[in-house]
Amino acid sequence: MRQEAQFAVHPLCDSFGAEIVGIDLSQPLNKALFAAVYGAFLRHQLLLFREQDLSAAGHVELARRFGEVQAHVLNQYHHREHRELFFLSNLDEKGLPNGKHPDRGTLHWHTDGSWTNRTTKATLIYSVEVPQRGGETHFADMYRAYESLDEATKDQIASRRAVHNLDFSRRRRHGEDPLTEEQRRQAPPVEHPIVRRHPETDRKCLFLGDHAEQVVDMDYAEGRALIEGLNGLSTREELVYEHRWRRRELIVWDNRCVLHRATSFDTTHERRVMRRATVLGDLV
Ligand code: SIN
Repeated sequence: MRQEAQFAVHPLCDSFGAEIVGIDLSQPLNKALFAAVYGAFLRHQLLLFREQDLSAAGHVELARRFGEVQAHVLNQYHHREHRELFFLSNLDEKGLPNGKHPDRGTLHWHTDGSWTNRTTKATLIYSVEVPQRGGETHFADMYRAYESLDEATKDQIASRRAVHNLDFSRRRRHGEDPLTEEQRRQAPPVEHPIVRRHPETDRKCLFLGDHAEQVVDMDYAEGRALIEGLNGLSTREELVYEHRWRRRELIVWDNRCVLHRATSFDTTHERRVMRRATVLGDLV
């Protein structure tokens, strides 16, 4: 355990991620405390805060400390009072499980908002209700994913770019609730380097995931095989932290160097309600 400023930091696994103990997120964090939390966020890539009472408004306020909060293009998921919150719930209007996963696209390894020109910096997710079994979230370390590649692969991808496309990943994975014409217009395919230098830590990381459709200037099938191969390599067990949720937890992670995926649960008998705020980052 390491003491930083006014809180304690407990690593969550060998690779990355830490639990922060001693902070009440329902109270505004002063400048020095937030700077220390932000430093820990850059160092550990993912921070977990347990036993937090965080209102929807407080959730948005906290996310704003990290930067400008995205209003997601899939506006059918907006929280009814705060459009900056993406609301993932399997409950119907009577509050009963409806038997449907709220967004099956989240079940595949991805980084939030890689389909935008201005990619995202952080996601803050808060657990309102959690199932007894399943419904975990898995996270993978994209610094180590890059560092563990052999030199030939590093050379092969060094100056390659990939096209990220929300319409592609959504149609390919489930085809439910497809993007409207307007949403497609707002989220056209965009290009990003496959290897990114993190703008704040200066470390190199892989930047792909499920929204990456093709490799620029490469045959489509060849590019698909390269993307799938790298996605597989970068999410192997030793690079992954699997989080089993309890109620009232907040996790914030760095989308620039972490992939994540949700896991399935019994949507007919169990309840899972999560709020998510995603903070915009840089143009790459
Ligand atoms: C997401 O992919 O952003 C949501 C993750 C989750 O529901 O666990």
